[in-house]
Amino acid sequence: MNYRHAFHAGNFADVLKHVVLVALIDQLAKKAAPIFFMDTHAGRGTYPVDAIEMQRTGEFRAGIVPLLAASAPPPAAARYLEIVRRLGVEDGKLLAYPGSPLIALEALRPQDRAVFSELEHESAVALKRGLGRDARAQVHERDGYEALLALIPPPEKRGLVLIDPPYESPDEFERLLETLLAAHTRFAGGVYAVWFPIKHGDAAGRFLERMAATGIRRQLIVELCVQRDDSPVGLNGAGLLIVNPPWQLDERLAQAIPWLHSTLAPAGRGRARISWHVPE
Ligand SMILES: C[S@@+](CC[C@H](N)C(=O)[O-])C[C@H]1O[C@@H](n2cnc3c(N)ncnc32)[C@H](O)[C@@H]1O
Repeated sequence: MNYRHAFHAGNFADVLKHVVLVALIDQLAKKAAPIFFMDTHAGRGTYPVDAIEMQRTGEFRAGIVPLLAASAPPPAAARYLEIVRRLGVEDGKLLAYPGSPLIALEALRPQDRAVFSELEHESAVALKRGLGRDARAQVHERDGYEALLALIPPPEKRGLVLIDPPYESPDEFERLLETLLAAHTRFAGGVYAVWFPIKHGDAAGRFLERMAATGIRRQLIVELCVQRDDSPVGLNGAGLLIVNPPWQLDERLAQAIPWLHSTLAPAGRGRARISWHVPE
């Protein structure tokens, strides 16, 4: 396990994921009943901007930094930016970029519950420290796929699962697919949001084709590319596949995703889309 999220925290792919995460929670929170949130690959929770890793790649400068400076963000992006400001900005300066656990807890309500699994020891320890005494949250230093299957269906019966693996192992898509199928069998009403990278070679496209063939209904795709899909450079884009998206999630994101694209790819390279991969 070599992946270190600190190199990529706050980049265009991270901000896409977190805008969608906040919108998912907000749409689910329109009903008062408690929500169970699970983040299978949680990371360390907070990423100080002066850390060597963040400074070395500088990826956040083409992600969260231009968003914080942009005017008139659409509502779903404004809500996400308000959370980032609350957690990581002081006197107008970005000090730390928050990870998915802190962002989710900020959007969740007192009656909700959150479970975070993180396999890498140091990150799990940092996450526990960062969460402090939030009684809604639990951290498991454990494989995220295993933890997910052990913990669902949740007693709350309403659940959102974020699956955000590092994709450093060649069989990641395979494990993801197997786990999603098993999870859907156990908890068919759960909302599953899977982050995936878009790179030259189209591994993501093959994964999406296989997901369409599973028979699972209601799959929505949200994608943001800042390069052409087949550019050999590296990470050209990122997407989320959402199974069972809450009502009106697509409408909530309809302005925010094109706005992310126009703000983060000013030369117009790449693309943005929200589309039903498998309908009702
Ligand atoms: C992309 S990062 C997570 C970022 C985080 N979700 C966020 O949005 O802030 C992936 C994380 O998964 C962890 N990881 C790798 N393999 C894992 C596994 N099998 N189970 C749980 N965590 C794992 C890595 O240590 C890394 O912190």
